[in-house]
Amino acid sequence: MNIKKSILALSLLSATQFATAGEVEVLHWWTSGGEAKSVAALKDMLEAQGHTWKDFAVAGGSGTSAMTVLKTRAVSGNPPAAAQIKGHDIQEWGGLGFLTNLDDVADQNKWEEKVPSLVTDIMKYDGEFVAVPVNVHRVNWLWANRDVFQKVGVKVPTTMDEFFVAGDKLKAAGIIPLAHGGQAWQDATVFEAVALDVLGSEDYRKAFVELDMDTLKGDKMVEAFRIFKKIHNYIDKNSPGRDWNIATSMVINGDAAMQIMGDWAKGEFTAAGKVAGKDYVCVPAPGTAGQFTHNVDSFAFFQLQDKENVKAQKALAATILTPEFQEVFNLNKGSIPVRMDADMSKFDSCAVDSMDTFKASAKSGDLVPSMAHGMSTTSYAQGAMYDVITNFFNDPKADPKEAAVKLAKAVKAAM
Ligand code: GAL
Repeated sequence: MNIKKSILALSLLSATQFATAGEVEVLHWWTSGGEAKSVAALKDMLEAQGHTWKDFAVAGGSGTSAMTVLKTRAVSGNPPAAAQIKGHDIQEWGGLGFLTNLDDVADQNKWEEKVPSLVTDIMKYDGEFVAVPVNVHRVNWLWANRDVFQKVGVKVPTTMDEFFVAGDKLKAAGIIPLAHGGQAWQDATVFEAVALDVLGSEDYRKAFVELDMDTLKGDKMVEAFRIFKKIHNYIDKNSPGRDWNIATSMVINGDAAMQIMGDWAKGEFTAAGKVAGKDYVCVPAPGTAGQFTHNVDSFAFFQLQDKENVKAQKALAATILTPEFQEVFNLNKGSIPVRMDADMSKFDSCAVDSMDTFKASAKSGDLVPSMAHGMSTTSYAQGAMYDVITNFFNDPKADPKEAAVKLAKAVKAAM
């Protein structure tokens, strides 16, 4: 269904279901080209039902700034109607008593039947729906500029060894091998991809979900730090502080050859009119074929007083899981629909591959939650890991063995 038709369908729905109009203020951090396009579809679909969308966008990849602003607003007793909150943070906000019960919307729209329990579990606090999932992002991807690889005559790497071989050739040809933004969450995104390869899915889970001290400081973690450090030789000196989407644009325009980033990067390729398989290639991050690090975006809903606004809020919650929204949003965002019955016919090869791997990895035990994106553990343990990973990456003298010990200690202190 195209967007016009789906908006029309939703307006008809609104005439029957939501006779009056309210306002929802929505906090999110989707401000890059691909992200802004994606979230605009939600605004359009809500407004087509007669409600008002008050945009509360706080720029900053992975939402670090958005979460700080949200805390200030909530503490002052004035939270937005909905906020992009995900993973373990949903539990933290639920525990503070801020979130509202969406079970009626969930029942009416049969969310339990449409969305895998792995996802619905994250959306519930104390057994009640308090958040709605938007998508499933795969984090362990490598994006490559096809022309650049063809010109230099190297193969897109599928293992870390191949990555370093390709990196040397690209460097010799005057191309930045890896586009990177030196921000803690981006460092952690690359690190967890390396860790997934070196540790394997089981030990990845032991380290980042179970926070097992022996695995956090073990030999495999030391090896992950060693490889991670080596990657530093393949990024450019201007990377500190760079936003992730600027790094993606370097791959799009051929200044850099690759980026290790979740598939929100694909949203930037799409917004730039680039086509998967033709202009760029997506392959699993080196050494992680068949494995899937998941990152589920979601909106959590806050308690509101005004009755009309509550109706608008529920309309927003219901809209998010409609097939129409799931399709248009995820086509722009680079992620896959969170409804497992989604029609994938309009999606590109990267998304189809992602959906297939999501389903297969759930069976093989290779579906793991992203540490870097708040899926695997609390924000406290995650913050502690961010610090160790970033400090290590930016200190040329840092020792991998010491880093692993520090990682374990920092996590223990945050538990
Ligand atoms: C992730 C989020 C994605 C994308 C990315 C960059 O944490 O899940 O949707 O927005 O940050 O900001």
